[in-house]
Amino acid sequence: MSQSQEPQQLIIALSKGRILDETLPLFEQAGIYPLEDVRKSRKLIFDTNLDHVKLIIIRATDVPTYVELGAADMGVSGKDVLMEHGAKGIYEPLDLNIARCRLMTAGMKGQKRPEGRIRVATKFINVAKRYYAEQGVQADLIKLYGGMELAPIMDLADEIVDIVDTGNTLKANGLEAREDIAPISTRLVVSQGAMKMKHQLIQPIIEQLRSAVNG
Ligand code: ATP
Ligand code: PRP
Ligand code: MG
Repeated sequence: MSQSQEPQQLIIALSKGRILDETLPLFEQAGIYPLEDVRKSRKLIFDTNLDHVKLIIIRATDVPTYVELGAADMGVSGKDVLMEHGAKGIYEPLDLNIARCRLMTAGMKGQKRPEGRIRVATKFINVAKRYYAEQGVQADLIKLYGGMELAPIMDLADEIVDIVDTGNTLKANGLEAREDIAPISTRLVVSQGAMKMKHQLIQPIIEQLRSAVNG
C-alpha cells in the first residue's frame, strides 16, 4: 500500500521553487511544519509535527500529477500549472493568494503581431493552444522550458505566452505585454479520492489554511 493510500496518513505535495518560501509560513500558521529544514536536506519526503501528515517537495509542474493520480492527497500549485496540466478530477478548495501574477502574451516593444500564422514560444503549450484558437489566430507553438523572453529577440518566435509580475523581465529585454490571458495565484488542491476517503483529516487543514490566508 502506498503512503497516500494509508487511511490515517495524509501526504501533502508542495511546489519547490519560489512558491515554497511563501507556502511554508502559511502552513506553519495553519499548525503544520516540517521537522527539519527542507532547504538544507536532499530528502524529498518530510515528517511534520503532526504524526499523520507528511510533506513531499517536488517540481511545481509535477504537483497536479501526484494529486490527480492519488499519490498525494493534497497539494499546492500555481493556477498556471493547473491550467496547463488540465487537472482533471482535482478539487481546488482554496486560493492561497500567494505568488500572484498574470499569464500574458508578449512581443518585441513597438512591433505588432504579424498577420496570418504566428510562431509562439512558451512552456504553457496547452493554455496557448486554447487561447489562440479562441482568438481565431493560427499559432505554431514552440515548447521552451524557461527564459521565454529571449525567443522574440532571437527571432525564434513572434510572440510568447508567459507569466508577468512586475514586468521587469519584459522591460529588461525590450519586450511589452500584449494581451491578458488569466490572473494567476497559488491554489490548494485535493485529490477526489482523498476528499471522499479522508474528509475528516482534510477538512480541518483546509479550514486552518483558510484562517491563515485571511488572518
Ligand atoms: P521550474 O523552475 O521548476 O521550471 P517554474 O518556473 O514553474 O518551474 P517557479 O518559478 O518557482 O517555477 O514558479 C512557481 C509558480 O509561481 C508558477 O507556477 C507561478 O504560479 C508563480 N510564478 C512564477 N513566476 C512568478 C513571478 N515572477 N511572480 C509571481 N509568481 C510567479
Ligand atoms: C518568471 C516568468 C517571467 C518572470 C516574470 O520567470 O517566467 O520570466 O518571472 O516576472 P517579472 O514580471 O516580475 O519580471 P522565472 O524567474 O521563474 O524564470 P524561469 O523562466 O526559469 O521560470
Ligand atoms: Mg519560473
